[in-house]
Amino acid sequence: MEEVIKIEGGHKLKGTVRISGSKNATVALIPAAILANGPVTVCDVPSISDVDSLSVLLRDLGVIVDIRSSDCIVIDPTKMKNKPLVHEAVNKLRASYYFMGALLGKYGHCEILMPGGCYLGPRPIDLHLKGFEALGATIRYEHGCYILDAPELVGTKIYLDIASVGATINIMMAAVHAKGRTTIENAAKEPEIIDVATLLNKMGAKIRGAGTDVITIEGVAKDVLYGCFHEIIPDRIEAATYMVIGAAAGEDMVIENIIPQHMESLLSKLTEMGVELDVKVDSVHIKGKKEKLKPVDIKTLPYPGFATDIQQPLTALLTQAYGQSIVTETIYTERFKHCYELNKMGANTHVMTPSAMINGPTPLSGAEVSATDLRCGACLVIAALIADGVTTIRNIYHIERGYAHIDEKLKALGAKMWRETI
Ligand code: EPU
Repeated sequence: MEEVIKIEGGHKLKGTVRISGSKNATVALIPAAILANGPVTVCDVPSISDVDSLSVLLRDLGVIVDIRSSDCIVIDPTKMKNKPLVHEAVNKLRASYYFMGALLGKYGHCEILMPGGCYLGPRPIDLHLKGFEALGATIRYEHGCYILDAPELVGTKIYLDIASVGATINIMMAAVHAKGRTTIENAAKEPEIIDVATLLNKMGAKIRGAGTDVITIEGVAKDVLYGCFHEIIPDRIEAATYMVIGAAAGEDMVIENIIPQHMESLLSKLTEMGVELDVKVDSVHIKGKKEKLKPVDIKTLPYPGFATDIQQPLTALLTQAYGQSIVTETIYTERFKHCYELNKMGANTHVMTPSAMINGPTPLSGAEVSATDLRCGACLVIAALIADGVTTIRNIYHIERGYAHIDEKLKALGAKMWRETI
């Protein structure tokens, strides 16, 4: 038995949608909170299953997780105990690897199963481990578990071969208590990294340069990190998804609680395609599209380049452009499973790794498709909203990992969708 999402396409969406807090910031902020010596209150927490999985792991460590309201949680690590994280929840998401940096920083020891997450091709964590080793940790891999040990962490200069989001955040957390100064060169610059550094600094850490490619962390004593309050930044990928929905299926849609500066690359591509939009300080009004959408070429790159996470949702819109669009993926070269699913709905896409050719416009029709990963799920929701007839989306647990209240938000805009158990 499996719960599926069914969407009847062809209904024009109209109205306002509020974007939730950033998933990729949240999944790092929650492990980061255990570095504090008092309760950390985090607000605008998205209601997604990744947060549930992390809460399970926190409780496993003896951390009190108190849900104060629909989007506010208090994480109190005062009585936590370090123990091996071998709970099955570790496998449910990639971000469980942030417990490596946080536990190594706090206790000098961490034992954790191999983290899970969406399959997007190989996703090594060698840069995280090299960073921990450079700080003085020893690492063993035994019986499916990473065991990290460091009687003392000492600040050093770390150059990342690839500007990895996860490695940057993980090293930053491990280095918070390292002796002296740690410098991360070629650091990733994503807004989520700034959000994590902001939380750690509110606790009492000394991190400078987050958001640039050189981050410095002056180690502080363990007893100086206290509890604090933090509001998570809006989710730029969820916002992007609703912007594409507005362009594909909307008549007049306002997407609010966004930081437009985080979305420049998408805004310019939508404009290039002929989507009419009006950007305000913290919202964007998608007015609709000109008669014919133009094809565009996309190349995914680290921030501030075009985000790999948006490439999949945008592909659904590219099937409606007049001509050929080429999407080139430089971050996860195998991130094209959505193309095969779109073809089941009538799209004309050809994958030639690391690119996909999307030939449009093609009418889409309802079919049974599978959300092979989170953003593939988002892509299929968009395709289903414009398809003729009913689309059945399977493996929706992927969508629930990253999109808060997606049914409610879309239904409020006028979508016809429901869930069934098949
Ligand atoms: N890489 C390595 N070695 C490492 C780490 C990364 O070779 O040790 C490579 C990866 O294989 C990839 C590139 O470096 O080719 C960039 O990976 P990065 O580490 O930046 O990705 P991540 O931290 O694992 C986060 C997001 C992803 C998002 C990427 C890229 C989280 C929890 N995940 O992953 O989000 O695609 O950054 O921006 O923050 C999603 O939200 O759907 C998602 C997959």
